[in-house]
Amino acid sequence: MGIWGWPWGRRGLSGFGSASTAEDIAAGIDASHLTAIVTGATNGIGKETARVLALRGANVIIPARTLESGMKVKESLAEEVPSSKLHVMEMDLSSLDSVRSFAGSFNSSHKHLNVLINNAGIMACPFQLSKDGIELQFATNHLGHFLLTNLLLDKMKSTAKETGVQGRIVNLASTAHRRSDGKGFDLNKLNNESKSAICYSLLILFA
Ligand SMILES: NC(=O)c1ccc[n+]([C@@H]2O[C@H](COP(=O)([O-])OP(=O)(O)OC[C@H]3O[C@@H](n4cnc5c(N)ncnc54)[C@H](OP(=O)(O)O)[C@@H]3O)[C@@H](O)[C@H]2O)c1
Repeated sequence: MGIWGWPWGRRGLSGFGSASTAEDIAAGIDASHLTAIVTGATNGIGKETARVLALRGANVIIPARTLESGMKVKESLAEEVPSSKLHVMEMDLSSLDSVRSFAGSFNSSHKHLNVLINNAGIMACPFQLSKDGIELQFATNHLGHFLLTNLLLDKMKSTAKETGVQGRIVNLASTAHRRSDGKGFDLNKLNNESKSAICYSLLILFA
């Protein structure tokens, strides 16, 4: 569809556009044989994605920063979709240890993984370092998801082999990167506080 079509809801080659809802896109799909992980499903786009996947019958794992916030979402989604199969697990994407711990628990407790939706993200927050000493947006949006995907890849490959159903990894991004300064991304300056937070977001979140 391209950047210029979205405000008017124009449809792209898929037949869907920015006016299409998750329910429109998943209409008529039986996802009851699928297991999906949706990061950042405690809010916003991730929550709606988890709701619609659950509505179509998928087994949905919600990794939440705290079990409390995850359970709150699970309860609210279960009210809307009483048949939902939702599982809350703890994971803080800004901590590499937390991502490793989540992936380890998931891999040992779940036989299959068909869909990984890397949706969680933060943007334009004040300069801050993660527990691992990495600029927080880069740690959360990029490194956390990179590690998570790598640690789940074998499970996705074995699932595809065993079930004959091709897996899908979806990384959410934004067209906002088009507004970056055009100078590219300097890997030597990841923790450079002088770079504005918005600049970091645009260069990193959507790189
Ligand atoms: N909304 C838009 O217009 C738009 C436009 C372009 C791209 N996007 C992209 O779409 C995605 C979703 O956006 P959104 O607007 O739905 O975001 P949102 O409402 O702000 O929700 C962000 C989600 O990410 C989670 N999260 C943040 N830091 C985390 C961490 N360290 N570990 C685990 N989870 C963490 C949040 O969990 P908590 O509940 O714990 O905070 C929340 O569930 C993002 O990647 C964003 O860049 C959105």
